[in-house]
Amino acid sequence: MYSIRNITDDILYVGAEDLKQTSFEGHYTTPDGMAYNSYLLRDEKTVLFDTADRAVAEIFLANVDKALDGRALDYVVVHHMEPDHSATLDAVLTRYPDAGILCSAQAAKMIANFTGSDYTARIRTVKEGDTLEAGRHTLRFIAAPMIHWPEVMMTYDAFDRVLFSADAFGTFGSRGGALFDDETDFDARLDEAARYYLNIVGKYGVQVQNVLKKAAALDVALICPLHGFVLRSRIADAIAKYDVWSSYKPEIDGVCVIYASVYGHTAAAAHALANALRKRGVATDVLDVTNADKSYALAKAFRYSHSCFAATTYNAGVFVAMEELLADLKAHGFKNRKYALMENGSWAPMSGKLMDASLAAMPGMTKVGDTVTMLSAPNTQTLDAIEKLADALSESVGG
Ligand code: FEO
Repeated sequence: MYSIRNITDDILYVGAEDLKQTSFEGHYTTPDGMAYNSYLLRDEKTVLFDTADRAVAEIFLANVDKALDGRALDYVVVHHMEPDHSATLDAVLTRYPDAGILCSAQAAKMIANFTGSDYTARIRTVKEGDTLEAGRHTLRFIAAPMIHWPEVMMTYDAFDRVLFSADAFGTFGSRGGALFDDETDFDARLDEAARYYLNIVGKYGVQVQNVLKKAAALDVALICPLHGFVLRSRIADAIAKYDVWSSYKPEIDGVCVIYASVYGHTAAAAHALANALRKRGVATDVLDVTNADKSYALAKAFRYSHSCFAATTYNAGVFVAMEELLADLKAHGFKNRKYALMENGSWAPMSGKLMDASLAAMPGMTKVGDTVTMLSAPNTQTLDAIEKLADALSESVGG
């Protein structure tokens, strides 16, 4: 079995999808699997851009064989050494013993560390601006450190105006039989693209901004990422989204209500707040962080201008799912947002004070309204306090 497709006359898609993978990196929910993209250039030289995850080794290697059509493989360009793109590098280098490796100096060290093999004689390290003449295609290498590891680089092919963008512009999920952005509902897929970017690369906004500046100087007709769709019709939209996300600016003026509830009382209060906000015409999302992968809540918190965090007190602390989310937000460089708080506690509510301390320690964070406190279950006083908080949030969002 193989599955390949032309991207241009000379460039073929040779990647593969793991449709059974429900957890990317053992951590992020991927309900419909994950795509591991790889591309082959057939010019006077043949050049493979990255390999693929071990889970798809069989079909990936069959794809490369088929796309080469009996030719030798001259080069493998390693943009990124994370194993979802390099676990089959050893197999490719064994299968095509004359293939050279083009990669950054840092990737060269990682190749030795990951494979345990000495490929020194086959490696040519490249840096920003270096080129490879493959025939009519001249490949120019672009340093892209920390997108999403330090060794990352991208490649620009001026002949077909293709940017091979490594992890950038990828998305969670498989592609449902589509390959290009205009073969799917691009807008409906944006939530998963945002969740992917903000969780995987989101910490490195400054580095993404630097690469976007380099990309702006290129004439790009196609972006070929290592996950998700090949972009050809929505390149400007994708770049605009990355510009907003990587500059830590909110994308949505509204309130994301995120809750961690033990028996459902905090959840009820969170939904009451969402209802009160919607009555006031405020864009609102509600997320349960206890029953879903917290990457969903993290992405929404980044995208919204305001978040309300609602959690039960637990072991004199914050109920664990919310505590983990706040730690993850901090680790991802969450900043410059407005937040509100709701707490619950049957005898000594503490979660509001503790969440406040975590959030206030992040840069540029501003609290809106008074913390809503429940003792066990929401009552009429709670509902009054929720209405007041909705007023404060509505005014803040509107202002
Ligand atoms: Fe898709 Fe950073 O690996």
